[in-house]
Amino acid sequence: MSAQHRKTVLITGCSSGIGRAAARLFQQQGWQVAATQRNPAAEAELNRLPGVICPRLDVTDPASIQSAVAETIAAFGRIDVVVNNAGYALMGAFETHSEAQVRRQFETNVFGLMEVCRGVLPHLRGQRAGTLINVASMVGRIPLPLYSVYNASKFAVEGFSEGLVYELEEFGVQVKLIEPGAVKTNFFGRSSDRANGTGETAYAHYTAEQLSVMDDIGACGSESEDAAAVIWAAANDSSRRMRYSVGTDAKALLFVRRLLPDATFQRMIRLSLSRMAFNSVGRLLYKQA
Ligand SMILES: NC(=O)c1ccc[n+]([C@@H]2O[C@H](COP(=O)([O-])OP(=O)(O)OC[C@H]3O[C@@H](n4cnc5c(N)ncnc54)[C@H](OP(=O)(O)O)[C@@H]3O)[C@@H](O)[C@H]2O)c1
Repeated sequence: MSAQHRKTVLITGCSSGIGRAAARLFQQQGWQVAATQRNPAAEAELNRLPGVICPRLDVTDPASIQSAVAETIAAFGRIDVVVNNAGYALMGAFETHSEAQVRRQFETNVFGLMEVCRGVLPHLRGQRAGTLINVASMVGRIPLPLYSVYNASKFAVEGFSEGLVYELEEFGVQVKLIEPGAVKTNFFGRSSDRANGTGETAYAHYTAEQLSVMDDIGACGSESEDAAAVIWAAANDSSRRMRYSVGTDAKALLFVRRLLPDATFQRMIRLSLSRMAFNSVGRLLYKQA
């Protein structure tokens, strides 16, 4: 296929995990890929693949968004799909977080994602075609303990994205949401911002037990490639479908959530997150097929 007819995707947060797997998959499928990263100088693989460039893009730095978009259009002529993937989780009891930690969570997961949309929308509207794919989370619809600020950031992504669906349809721009359950990435390790032991300590016992269960859930998670395959499917789905879950945990919990009243559902979540229950039946629920 000539470069003129190949589609182009711009993805944020391609240094690891889901973004990286998505960049590889789109490239393998013959797309032109802007695999953006905060620190592309450290990249040694993606930038050697044909049809891939790695512009610097930090979602909290609007100038880097503008230049990454311009670099991508200069290299490939257009952008067809934008995957807003960059993000991380602030983990721990709300009271143990500083205001700066809370703001940083929103600066990245919410305001950063919005700025990327602001940066690409004139181009997508101008060509009267394009797809925004926002990586939210299962917890953007099913909040979990010790993720209260992260939950809130992903609820914001859900609300923002659904509003955009209506605003952008007359311009031929689609908006889609990816809702992963647990995925085995740096999300549970290097990328997470965890309660740092300062501040309110009344939660120490609960936090220690619960975060260790969360880490075990993470270790049972889907592969990054599974999430990338769902992003790929969303990018190629011209129907009006908006939400795409990833993993059996997300699919099962989102289904059960629709059926149960709040209090019953919360009892089920409490039970499934207890160490004892997780070690017996919970592992089965979270173990990905
Ligand atoms: N893994 C899960 O269980 C899970 C579940 C639901 C949703 N998600 C969502 O999936 C997305 C990808 O996460 P992941 O699981 O693939 O984790 P990951 O391996 O930690 O990847 C996160 C990526 O985001 C980048 N990033 C963080 N802050 C950034 C910023 N300010 N500007 C640009 N890039 C930034 C990281 O870059 P650096 O290398 O520079 O830090 C990294 O490339 C996130 O939005 C996350 O919330 C993950």
